[in-house]
Amino acid sequence: MRKKIIAGNWKMNINHLEAEKLLEDLVKCDIKDNHEVIVFPPFTSIPAALKVALNSEIRVGAQNISQYENGAYTGEISSDMLLTLGVKDVIVGHSERREIFKEDNEIVRDKAKKALEDGFHVILCLGENQEIRDRSKEEDFVKNQLINSLKNIDIRGKNIILAYEPIWAIGTGKTCSGEDAEKMCFFIRKTIKELYGEDEASLIRILYGGSVKAENISDLMARDNIDGVLVGGASLKSESFKKLINYEV
Ligand code: PGA
Repeated sequence: MRKKIIAGNWKMNINHLEAEKLLEDLVKCDIKDNHEVIVFPPFTSIPAALKVALNSEIRVGAQNISQYENGAYTGEISSDMLLTLGVKDVIVGHSERREIFKEDNEIVRDKAKKALEDGFHVILCLGENQEIRDRSKEEDFVKNQLINSLKNIDIRGKNIILAYEPIWAIGTGKTCSGEDAEKMCFFIRKTIKELYGEDEASLIRILYGGSVKAENISDLMARDNIDGVLVGGASLKSESFKKLINYEV
């Protein structure tokens, strides 16, 4: 049985003092059996978050990672720096990295490759924008993103998790319906089966992200092909994130 994931992406919010406070509250939560909770603070808040989360069931990950080993890459954070802190989870290819910071599939692929080789659990994000959805081309687009973001990487036996995050549903309050999210996650699993075989397809976890909140989490989590959620806005406040951790089954 695939373990479910509730992941909170704090984006460029929550300084280290706020992170400490938020986590002090979150670590008191009972985490359901067969569930994992991971938070992704900004880099500078990671040490404080790790300190509070130590000895709890909550994991602390990073929102980004460099594809390079080390050297003259101003502003970048390496895999070694994260591993030395004790970080094991990383997000790559978030749509904000792709859209705002112009990370294309090739860059995303290099980051995913480096992180997987170094033993991280990698959450790879995929998802179409409104214009593509309006033309009903979302499946072609996501398939192409998936193939090219993983080109020449054999993910079998690696810790990779996929996150379907339609851009039009991120931070907009416009939720993708449970049916539509399930349909795409089913399609992604089918594509993984074509590319990597039945075993990988049945093992891989696929998350949904985009305006997840207390009102829609139970419906999403109950779907056959959705193994968890990647949450932005609702993970920033202890009150709203706790509601997600304690969602009704
Ligand atoms: P949101 O963000 O929950 O605020 O829509 C989701 C994400 O970008 O991961």
